Amino acid sequence: MFRSKITASILALTLSAFVLLAPSTTVAKVEFEQQEWSFKGIFGTYDRGALQRGFQVYKEVCASCHSLNLVSYRNLSQPGGPEFSKEQVKAIAAEVEVRDGPNEDGEMFDRPGRPSDRFVSPFPNDEAARASNGGALPPDLSLMIKARGDGANYLYALMTEYKEEAPDGVELRDGMNYNSAFSGGQIAMAPPLSEDAVEYSDGTKPTVENMSRDVVTFLAWAAEPHMEERKTMGFKVLIYLIILAGLLYATTRKMWSRIKH
Ligand code: HEC
Repeated sequence: MFRSKITASILALTLSAFVLLAPSTTVAKVEFEQQEWSFKGIFGTYDRGALQRGFQVYKEVCASCHSLNLVSYRNLSQPGGPEFSKEQVKAIAAEVEVRDGPNEDGEMFDRPGRPSDRFVSPFPNDEAARASNGGALPPDLSLMIKARGDGANYLYALMTEYKEEAPDGVELRDGMNYNSAFSGGQIAMAPPLSEDAVEYSDGTKPTVENMSRDVVTFLAWAAEPHMEERKTMGFKVLIYLIILAGLLYATTRKMWSRIKH
């Protein structure tokens, strides 16, 4: 009785450690080409360089249409993220204008951003965003990787699978672009990336593939900024449980060896 209770509780605790280590999104059916991601698997971590370059791609390209409402500038310097220095983050935040207020006169005013501010949205509201994008709304990208099945591979495919022309028999609607990764094939977003769209300072070639990989890594982090912490915790719990199980096994053996069955 006693032994089986111990075994059951160890099993339950071990399972909970695996829950910590497991990917937080359910794996969807394989539909897109599978890329190698540094952050996949139970040992996976984000590639720091890719995160920093991906932030650059987001900032210089995607941020003119897409908001990233759940991320603050200070997150960029936190462990497990792009890990920019505090000074770099101050400078990054100071580049944007933040609407604040009201002041003593009851008026709203603009001020330079601070690290504690959330990422500033490109449009004041959804209506303005639609008006600038031919009626289509560029969605917030904070949780996009989690919102779509096989998110990282889907986003990579979305960035890289634009076709200049729709296949025979497909009538492209006005202002639409053909993209075989997008459901239905017709997307209002024009291809956002083209060769040399950004200039990388670390010597990485800004090909569409490299920029896509980097921006997807950055958006994967945005959607799960505490992934590395979660995995480390999962390991600690697992190691602790293995040691505990060994100790318990040894003690119960010793105890029971003195009792005649
Ligand atoms: C000029 C504006 C513009 C830029 C720049 C832009 N997008 Fe978009 N994006 C849109 C619009 C508009 C939509 C909505 C498309 C639709 O619903 O047909 C969209 C949709 C998306 C979607 C959602 C797809 C889905 O499954 O619903 C993702 C993901 C996305 N964009 C990622 C990006 C990334 C990453 C970048 C930067 C590399 C970027 N976009 C740059 C306008 C833009």
